Amino acid sequence: ANVTVVDHPLVQVKLTQMRSKETASPDFRRLLKEISLLLAYEVTRDLVLTEREVETPVERAMCPVLRDLEPCFISILRAGNGILDGMMDLLPSARVGHVGLYRDPETLEAVEYYYKVPTDISDREVIVVDPMLATGHTAVFAINRLKKDGAKNIKFLCLLAAPEGLEEFRKGHPDVPVFTASIDQKLNEHGYIVPGLGDAGDRIYG
Ligand code: PRP
Repeated sequence: ANVTVVDHPLVQVKLTQMRSKETASPDFRRLLKEISLLLAYEVTRDLVLTEREVETPVERAMCPVLRDLEPCFISILRAGNGILDGMMDLLPSARVGHVGLYRDPETLEAVEYYYKVPTDISDREVIVVDPMLATGHTAVFAINRLKKDGAKNIKFLCLLAAPEGLEEFRKGHPDVPVFTASIDQKLNEHGYIVPGLGDAGDRIYG
């Protein structure tokens, strides 16, 4: 798969703090927001620029602006909202959609309970966010749904990915680049990422 591991030292150090079970929800949320700003910086690196004339106090100059519509962020509930907060601070006029999915604890399949996305996702770059890519079922399901609604130019951003999830994702969506702060060792028998950071939703919301 086309995977970018964001190995910036600040990302890695914040991730270590988030992994620690001693880190309680208030700090976990703050760290997630900080790390999301840094990940957002990397995932938006190839946004296309054009130029527009701007009058500075000194003179007129041609300066860079975004060529296309602002991207659309899609948060996979619940835990995706933790990443979304940081992304929206960085790109306040981005559009936002929400996809509610939970993992059936028995089958580990994704089950949809909410779906609301902007009507013009086919005209925008779509950045799907969820802290965890474990089995990959959730991300694959969400992106299938978005493609059905016309999304073409898609990226997936997570905090942690399991090798098994990346493999599943590559099979489902070979055209979608993945950005992550870490590729962890494996999944355990409950579908948790090892060493991971536990259940991201529980750690954000308590
Ligand atoms: C977690 C996580 C992902 C999903 C990843 O969500 O936030 O959405 O599991 O697992 P997968 O790759 O094996 O599909 P969870 O189902 O715990 O829901 P929550 O975010 O509402 O807590």
